[in-house]
Amino acid sequence: MSELHDIVLKILERGKGILAADESTGTMTKRLENVNVPSTPENRLLFRETLFSSSGMSDCIGGVILYDETIKQETSKKIKIPELISKMGSTPGIKVDTGAKVLAGSPNEKITEGLDGLRERLKEYHKLGAKFTKWRGVYIITKNTPSRLSIQSNAHALARYSAIVQECKMVPIVEPEVLMDGEHSARECYEKTSEVIKKCFDELILHKVDLKGIILKPNMILAGNKSKDKISNEEVAKLTIKCLKNSVPFEVPGIAFLSGGQSEIEATENLNLINKYNDTDFIMSYSYGRALQQSALKFWSKNIKDIEGTQKVFNHRAKMNTLAAQSKWSKDLEV
Ligand code: 13P
Repeated sequence: MSELHDIVLKILERGKGILAADESTGTMTKRLENVNVPSTPENRLLFRETLFSSSGMSDCIGGVILYDETIKQETSKKIKIPELISKMGSTPGIKVDTGAKVLAGSPNEKITEGLDGLRERLKEYHKLGAKFTKWRGVYIITKNTPSRLSIQSNAHALARYSAIVQECKMVPIVEPEVLMDGEHSARECYEKTSEVIKKCFDELILHKVDLKGIILKPNMILAGNKSKDKISNEEVAKLTIKCLKNSVPFEVPGIAFLSGGQSEIEATENLNLINKYNDTDFIMSYSYGRALQQSALKFWSKNIKDIEGTQKVFNHRAKMNTLAAQSKWSKDLEV
């Protein structure tokens, strides 16, 4: 078995998932200001250090995606952040794209940048302890989008990124996110997501990426957040599985969903149902940002010194999602 494949299996073992704590400073500032906490490097570190040192890390969180600022920070006890994460039994990872920018030729869409100088940055992150990476392509559903241009150019970037990451002996998370924003139906989400994922794999194969050494991070198949089309969680799960079955090559070992603006409970419930109906060989787990951190952040903002209380809230969410990744969750466990 290859080294990269082993890293994937370790991150996703026994229902474990990924904590996406890689918000850029801009996004983190918005999240903190939303709960009336000043966004200083110290506060950003304190919140993240609180999560990374919680007991849920050992039991439930197989990997943590960091942002450039955090991977270079030290805890109050002078432990380097990637070291703390490894010590807790988890695996440090790093977001390496430099953000989604306006796509020339289709100004309402985005193309993710960050390929220039990537190999050099990867070598530095690898030395700092990173074992996996993330790159997010973003697609918006409207009448005319995602365009062929956006589907093709983002797939190309995701594949070039993945090939360089594997060359540097790390696992690439391939994240093509079809946004939930909009009026589209779940059927439209299904069709567009299938097209996007298929094109990503065409490019990954062309770029000779070892599919056994990646993690796919897709959206679930949902109706747009402004859609009149309402579908049940059961249908979300079944459509999501059908989409992945038809568009992901069997060699891919693991799929870790993003939460994409779903509520915490919704993201957990949908993951649970996906695993209930999963008739594929793919490991289906989570790589949540907001759906793992929202309640913990809210609790912490009221008393940033209450480390234990914050960790309790975070541990609960991590546990619920790890149960869902094994289809062992039920609503009564939430109280
Ligand atoms: P959400 O789960 O909040 O969508 O974040 C996941 C992520 O990493 C987005 O790039």
